[in-house]
Amino acid sequence: MSAVSSSAALDRRQTSKGVSAANEGSTSHVRETWLAAFRKVRAETERRAAPLSPEDQVVQSMPDTSPTKWHRAHTTWFFEQFLLIPYLPGYRVYDKRFAYLYNSYYVSAGPRHARPKRGLITRPAVGEVAAYRAHVDAAVERLLEKSGQSDLKEMLSIVEIGLNHEQQHQELITTDILHVLAQNPTAPAYDAKWKMPHGACTTGPLAQIAGGIYTIGDDGTGFVFDNERPGYEALLQPVKIARAPVTNREWLEFMTDGGYKTPTLWLSDGWAVVQSEEWIGPSYWQEISDGQWQSMTLAGLQPVDLDAPVCHVSYYEADAFARWAGKHLPTEAEWEVATRSGLIDDAFGIVWQWTRSAYSPYPGYRAIEGALGEYNGKFMINQMVLRGSSFATPEGHSRPSYRNFFYPSSRWQFSGLRLAEYDS
Ligand SMILES: [Fe+2]
Repeated sequence: MSAVSSSAALDRRQTSKGVSAANEGSTSHVRETWLAAFRKVRAETERRAAPLSPEDQVVQSMPDTSPTKWHRAHTTWFFEQFLLIPYLPGYRVYDKRFAYLYNSYYVSAGPRHARPKRGLITRPAVGEVAAYRAHVDAAVERLLEKSGQSDLKEMLSIVEIGLNHEQQHQELITTDILHVLAQNPTAPAYDAKWKMPHGACTTGPLAQIAGGIYTIGDDGTGFVFDNERPGYEALLQPVKIARAPVTNREWLEFMTDGGYKTPTLWLSDGWAVVQSEEWIGPSYWQEISDGQWQSMTLAGLQPVDLDAPVCHVSYYEADAFARWAGKHLPTEAEWEVATRSGLIDDAFGIVWQWTRSAYSPYPGYRAIEGALGEYNGKFMINQMVLRGSSFATPEGHSRPSYRNFFYPSSRWQFSGLRLAEYDS
């Protein structure tokens, strides 16, 4: 089993939805369930970092990526800052300097190091970050083991968001290390056995969604981030949606047909990026001879797998492809309705799928109180929503209402697309 795909081993019962349900049991049962979930998620971060040398873990290959060492430390700081300091009497902060180094963007939690310069931090070394993780792990275990029922409830809401936060960083560890390794002319593998999953690769007619009013967002069945709340009613026009994501074979047809050379296919901002960045194909693709393409993957440089879903395309590229195909990208509401209705395949676990929806608040949205209110709300501008999940998303971290979001030019994530078509 590859180092990434074995994340499926993460027991679904020990991730957010399952542990939320555990809150209904006895105090000792609740405590044990959450302790198990905490250990499982923390161990998954270490499993993803394990194939990497200390040198691998320090590099920051562009401002958008972060070093593996930083991800390991930042997710630890999150528990220290938001759980241990407020809730564990007598807790000893591991190192007062770490708050400055490992706070990401929480203005309410104090000053922080510049994001683009995370790769310049060689000290603390990887070994000390491991010791920091162990120190915080032990303190969280002490806290959970000693707390009574009334204290647990409030603390567990912080533990829950901390675990979901760490799972988000687990995917970033994977996306970011691929970008790091892609800078190396020898194209080293993170996991030589890794292969992109194909999914169902369903062909045939698009699935029909009837027009009408549908409920979107939080359905009350488990943990959600605040950006999925409140659930609301959306009016959909009749629309058809592709059962499968677009493949590399289809993407090559777009390229061969001059997709990257035809300005009328592109949004103005997208065309500007095509020209300035000299895009000729998805990120990580290299043409090794006429019409023969290879792609940098977690297994190193590999021939492009024509039957696999296209990956590492930006919103701008997805939008241009849809225009070239005479179709559209679905809205996030259309995607969610199709998924909840069981109309589409490969919604989860292969590639994230760009939607045509801007990342904005749902009607009535308010960020949660306190520093954690900075988690999502302040980013609701200038970004586009992706739905589903990728092969690198930890097991149990996916749901129909999940909203991922990135800037329209971003393409180092495992991002692809599926098409939609309106009745004309
Ligand atoms: Fe974070």
